[in-house]
Amino acid sequence: MIIDEENKQVNNRLASSLSPVGAVIVAAGSGERMGEVDKMFALLGGEPVLARVVDVFQSCDLIDRIVVVVSKQSLKKCRQLGIERGWFKVVDVCPGGERRQDSVAAGLSRLRDCHWVVIHDGARPLVTEDLIRHGLAEAEETGAAVAAVPVTDTIKVAGDDRLVQHTPSRHNLWVVQTPQVFRFDIITEAYRRVKAEVTDDASLVEQSGYKVKLYMGAYDNIKVTTPDDLALAEVLWQKHGK
Ligand code: CTP
Ligand code: MG
Repeated sequence: MIIDEENKQVNNRLASSLSPVGAVIVAAGSGERMGEVDKMFALLGGEPVLARVVDVFQSCDLIDRIVVVVSKQSLKKCRQLGIERGWFKVVDVCPGGERRQDSVAAGLSRLRDCHWVVIHDGARPLVTEDLIRHGLAEAEETGAAVAAVPVTDTIKVAGDDRLVQHTPSRHNLWVVQTPQVFRFDIITEAYRRVKAEVTDDASLVEQSGYKVKLYMGAYDNIKVTTPDDLALAEVLWQKHGK
């Protein structure tokens, strides 16, 4: 009860200082490592993975508008899903690009009048409203905040010959996830300036010289990449009592 009240207060404060907040959900990959199954429409707890993701953003009070980026073949199916599930915050469902960053750029170009944007992988269906809220709260200070968890395995750096060059201390190593939250002007400038290929949005912001803060993500916030991940996501979904 107390936590609910605290959350409500944080929500109200954030909502007034950050608003309007947009979300870009990227789901336009080809899902090659998943094999035959279209991972965005694979079922998790009986509903499509993509539906699980968009539902969380739709329910989150801090999110004002959502753009969903999908492959050309999935445009119709996704729009239909939106109608069925009453996604009134979804202002656009648009086609993605060749690389993930092209899909994000396509999504950003469809968001109007937002001060902040939360970018999230459609392939991470275990995202929670708390992760979105914490990201927005952290980003308020630096302009950019990214969900991440401390590395649990030992990481080695090796050459192409696989000979180990060094073993960095685990102490400062983090595995990065989404949500990634940015002030709208910072992320749009980063996308305009940096054309290098990257694997996350924060890299572009870092390369543009802005500070990026890591905030505690969740080990359960996995990315569904292979069929094994989908099986694990199902177990985690049940674990959360959903
Ligand atoms: N993504 C995207 N557009 C792309 C590539 C990726 O919107 N051109 C999205 C994916 O749909 C996914 C997220 O970015 O939600 C992370 O990508 P990843 O897990 O690599 O998914 P895919 O690229 O679809 O899978 P694969 O790399 O196995 O083909
Ligand atoms: Mg990929």
